[in-house]
Amino acid sequence: MTLRSPVITVMTGAARKAARGLVRDFGEVENLQVSRKGPADFVSAADLRAEQVLRRELTRARPRFGLLMEESGETAGVDSSHRFIVDPLDGTLNFLHGIPHFAISIALEENKELVAGVIYDPIRDETFAAEKGQGAYLNRYRLRVSSRARLADAVVGTGIPRRALEANPGYLAAVARAMGACAALRRSGSAALDLAYVAAGRYEGFWEPGLAPWDIAAGALLVREAGGFITTIDGGDGFLASGDVLAANDKLHQPLMALLAGRGAGDRRTA
Ligand code: IPD
Ligand code: CA
Ligand code: CA
Repeated sequence: MTLRSPVITVMTGAARKAARGLVRDFGEVENLQVSRKGPADFVSAADLRAEQVLRRELTRARPRFGLLMEESGETAGVDSSHRFIVDPLDGTLNFLHGIPHFAISIALEENKELVAGVIYDPIRDETFAAEKGQGAYLNRYRLRVSSRARLADAVVGTGIPRRALEANPGYLAAVARAMGACAALRRSGSAALDLAYVAAGRYEGFWEPGLAPWDIAAGALLVREAGGFITTIDGGDGFLASGDVLAANDKLHQPLMALLAGRGAGDRRTA
């Protein structure tokens, strides 16, 4: 089984089309690593090209909807109740360095509520998709967050904030606590895939401060529809606006929140 609604088909189709260009360009990046100029300009052009394809495809299918896209910002729609939120290339630094871990992320909001999300990893040909009330899928398979209930067994993703440490004063201390309490930490370089991996039960949890709405929107719906929880790092609702995100399976969301805040949860060696 899988999701078959018209809008998911539109979003998946747009992601796959844009991904064809990204994969071609990714092949070029390797050659450019050794050139004097390096691949940086080429990668920004690849990013923009992907965004143009996504804009064209989404607008063709849903001409009245608004758009929020990482590179071109906000485009108001005639229909102000619907908006696509798009990251044409999440994992840009991986892409630039020839690391095959990046994705396209597309979410749809209806009256400010997330109703559909697609994250496409073109290297592994993995399509993560969710629709409100209809569940989350990886290709044809229904997703469910992991059932691991002990931090000592948990693989937890994080993202190292771009802004200076002063803007994220508690981050390193939180990493240190998570290192002590969890089975392992991961830093993949694609927040969209990190969230998709929580939905898929590959990670038990993920947190990162200072993200943008296009990093989070599709992944948030995936996590929820797979039975997980997503909040701000201190448990609030406004993660899309604040960009501070904590996602986890249903059993570990509370313990992770407490751990990151420095309340309890202990060291795995004493657990
Ligand atoms: C970045 C990735 C990364 C996260 C950064 C994001 P980009 O998005 O999601 O994992 O740590 O905060 O900005 O720039 O590759 O689209
Ligand atoms: Ca991003
Ligand atoms: Ca991006």
